[in-house]
Parts: sequence; structure tokens; C-alpha cells
Amino acid sequence: MPFRLSRAAHAGALVLPFVAGCSQLGGVKVPATELVSGASVSAPHGMVVSASTIASEAGRNVLADGGNAVDAAIATGFALAVTYPVAGNIGGGGFMVIRFPDGRATTIDFREMAPQAASPTMFTDSAGNYSARIHHDSHRSVGVPGTVAGFELAHRKYGSAPWSRLVDPAVQLAGNGFAAPQGLAQSLDRALGGSFKDFPASIAAYSKSGQPYVGGETIRQPDLARTLTRIRDQGRDGFYKGETARLLAEDMRQHGGLITEGDLAKYEAKERAPIRGSYRGYEIISMPPPSSGGVALVEMLNILEGYPLEAAGHDSPRYVHLVTEAMRRAFIDRARYLGDPDFTRAPIARLTDKLYADDVRHTIIPGRASKSEPSDLVLRHESDQTTHYSVVDANGMAVSVTYTLENGYGLGAVVPGAGFLLNNEMGDFNGKPGVTDTTGLIGTEPNVAMPGKRMLSSMTPTIIARQGKLVAVVGSPGGRTIINTVLQVILNQIDFKMGIRDAVDAKRFHHQWLPDRLYVERDGLPPATVDSLAAIGHPITWTNAQGTAHSIRIDPVTGMRQGAADTRDKDAGAAGY
Ligand code: DON
Repeated sequence: MPFRLSRAAHAGALVLPFVAGCSQLGGVKVPATELVSGASVSAPHGMVVSASTIASEAGRNVLADGGNAVDAAIATGFALAVTYPVAGNIGGGGFMVIRFPDGRATTIDFREMAPQAASPTMFTDSAGNYSARIHHDSHRSVGVPGTVAGFELAHRKYGSAPWSRLVDPAVQLAGNGFAAPQGLAQSLDRALGGSFKDFPASIAAYSKSGQPYVGGETIRQPDLARTLTRIRDQGRDGFYKGETARLLAEDMRQHGGLITEGDLAKYEAKERAPIRGSYRGYEIISMPPPSSGGVALVEMLNILEGYPLEAAGHDSPRYVHLVTEAMRRAFIDRARYLGDPDFTRAPIARLTDKLYADDVRHTIIPGRASKSEPSDLVLRHESDQTTHYSVVDANGMAVSVTYTLENGYGLGAVVPGAGFLLNNEMGDFNGKPGVTDTTGLIGTEPNVAMPGKRMLSSMTPTIIARQGKLVAVVGSPGGRTIINTVLQVILNQIDFKMGIRDAVDAKRFHHQWLPDRLYVERDGLPPATVDSLAAIGHPITWTNAQGTAHSIRIDPVTGMRQGAADTRDKDAGAAGY
């Protein structure tokens, strides 16, 4: 049985009017709130669920002040850049899916872009050999950050509160400090001996002169506070021009990176039409390329719609087999076709078509695992440090955001004087054109680095609706496992009628075509299922946590917003009002 932790406490129903610029995190002007890290929270008006309880609270306060879900998503995103630096960011990028109360939907693509000096062979050394270090662990692995431009675009088009009100909580958190939650203190301690160790600015930002913080101690980030102040006061120019841009470009020059002030000034976030699909009468709204998430998710759901999964049983061999085979096939298409749509044409309409899924379904053999062909493509391991958060406001506007620095703490390098971490997202481009080998490299054309191109992602921020009504907001971190985590959180709700707490808590599994293995969260399947799966050719590898799916579901009867912070994330929390 999935672990159940349900705290259905209802907060006070008082809604306070929005007062421009008046609300600060320290002086919360909202009624009693339910803030329970790792538990379910239910509230009548608005809800934010994120990896950091402090950031959820910042977003919730914006909602309670009369801001809409886009406003709250922006405030939460900036706060996460302070309180959840492992993935919250202003130096990275991501995706936002928005559903309006009338059922329209849109997305904001703020994925990082390759700088103008990028080229398909930029991850090779002077001898022309592919270098994993250059690709993933050097200043060349940094893409032009998109987060600030993405938030600015979302705010300009769909926000309602003043911009300064949304950035200011993050300014205060960075400048005045906040009490380090246990999970953050432990994570920073590990990073000091790991990815931070070559970067004095990172050690200065995230330790007490080299000594680790312990839980409860106040973390202040004065350089970051100054950068956030520039963003608060100057909008996107506070990041992409002037002092911040100068500091970032200087750091690039010092370390052999490629990003210039010109690249920063040119960065553009884009509004794109969402991927839309349906599954057993539910509407699925998700992210289009340059994320592969929405396309792969809809392809898998279309394949699975042809099977009575509920009758098969949640952890049954038949269920796991069919879902695994759907995953395998969607990941083949992902590798074959998908890349930045501004550079590559992919057959998206076909991949998300029910008739195509019928054809694919017919290739699945009920009682036998297919074999992935190692001679095709081998996909490299991805880390699972990204973060997802979900927001719903009092009017039913919903926002689903997943954003990332790629690795935990990105490159591990804080920009000296600017206080924020750089991403290493260029590692999501293919390593070397034409070179696909068993070490995990892929070299297919749609996703090689080019100037101004965005690297392919797996992030899958998703919104579910039914008969015109909002049902749920879901998403997860986890590299390629993201798509499969989101798939299972959806199947758990629709096929197995789980509430949001159980749908998020239930153990998950993952198959990504190659390597040809079924990864299962430890103890996630009964021994009898494991034996049956092995017998039909699914070798199982046990894993630790797969993703952290901070989600919201709307109670269909009461309309209450039910927030479930994923207990796989230590400091996570839901905040409603
Ligand atoms: O965009 C992507 O798919 C990856 N860069 C995401 C990396 C990731 O999820 C790592 N952690 N959770």
C-alpha cells in the first residue's frame, strides 16, 4: 500500500485585498494557513506546492494578497532561487504551462539558449575527441539563462500584481536571511566538498567561511540580494544588461566560457501553444518542444488508453509490462525526432495522434518484453536535480512550472559578485554529431548545439482538466524519468482513482528504451510481480527516489485545492489559504 499521510485541515476563508507592494514575507498579512511539510494540505481559495515550504509561503502570500496564479508562480520561482538553490534559479531555465479559468491554455518557454559562439563540435577537445568534462562540467556547459526573461514575459502577458511585489520576497529572503531547513543544510554540506569546491564564490555564498551551515542557522546571500534588487527595480534588464550581465560575462572570460553580454541582451523567452491530448475523457495540457515531455507523455497515454489498466491492477505484472513497453516506444521517438522547434521540424501531430498510437500498440506483445537495440542509440544518464511546483488561484487559474540548473547546483559555480549559480544545461545537447556509442553518447541531428538553439528537455509541467473544469496540476524533476513520473501520477489518479496524496506517494518505475532496463523505486513492487516481470524478460534495477511530484488536485465536489508536497523532497511544503 502506498504510504498515506493526509492532513485535511482547512484554512480560514478570509481573502484579503491585494495592496500593491505592501506585503513582505516577514510581515505576512494572511489568515491562518496550513503549512505542513510533506503532508497534504487542503484550502478553499489558492494553493502553492513546491520543494521549499518557505517559497510556497511566498507564493501563497501573493495569492492571498489578490495576485493570480501566474503572479504566485513568479514569486515562488524567485523565492526558490534563494531557498532551494539546488534547482531553484535565476541562472537556469525551464517551462511554464498556464491554464486560464475559461479553459484556454498557453505555455512559456524559458529554456536556456546556446550562445552565438556555440557549434555542433564545441564539446570536443583540441584533438577532436568528445570531452564529457567540456560538455557537462565546464563554463562551456553553461547556456544563456532564461528564467528571468520567462518570468518577465509571463508577467507582462498574464500577471496582475506589480512586478516588484513578486521579486521582493526573494530580495528579503536573500538579504535578511532565512533559517536553513534541514534538507538544505545537509545538501549544501555535501556540495561544499563536491561541485562547489573549485569555486571560491560558491563556498563564500553557501557556507560560513568554509564551515557548513547546520539546520536552523540563518543563511544570508548579500550578492544575490543585490542581483535580485536589480531585477526587482529594472525588470529583465536588471539581469540581461548592466551590472549583472557584466559580472556574468566577466566570469565567462575568466573561465573559458562562451556567453557574452551580447548573448545575454539577445535572450528571448517564447510563448508557445501547448501540447494537448486526451486520456479516458480527461484533457491533458503539457509542454511542447524544446521539451520532449508533452509529446512523449501524450504518446504514452494514447498507447495505454487501449488497455483496461484498472482491471489489470496497479502493481500487477501486466500493468507494469504494458506501461514499460509504452515508455520504451515513446523514448525511441523522442531520440529520433525531437529538438528545438525553431531549428528542427518534428512530426508532432503524428506522434500525438491516436491512430499512430494504435499502430505502436500493435507492436507490443502482451506476455513478452521487447528488446531495445543497443545498435540504435544509447542514452546517457541524467542527474535528477530540477524542481517542479504547482499553483492554483481562487479563480481556478492554474500554473505548472518545472525549471532547472540541470545538475544539482548546476555547474556548482556562483558568479562572483552576482551571487547566483550557473546552469550546465548545454549538457542536454548531443555530445558530438554522428557519434553514438555504448558509453552513452548520442549524436542525432535534431539536438546538436547551434548558435541560439535550445537544448532538448524532458521537463513535463502538465495540467489536467475534464469537461471544462480544472482537475489537477502535476510535474516532476528527474531528467528523463520526469516524463514517466508524470505519466504514473496521472495513471494513478485516472485509472486507479487515487487521491492526490496516494497518487504522489505511490512507488514509481522507469524505462527509457536504452539502457534496456526497468528501474523501480526500492521495494516498489511485490516480489511476485518482480518474479513475473523477470520471467518475461524485464530485468529490474532498484533505485532510490524517482522524482518529486509536487502536485495539486481540485476536489470535484467541494472545489477545495488539495496540495500534496512529495515526501521524497525533505523541505517541501504546500501552502494554501
Ligand atoms: O531539461 C531536462 O530534461 C534536464 N536538464 C532536467 C535535468 C533534471 O531533471 C535533473 N533533475 N532533476
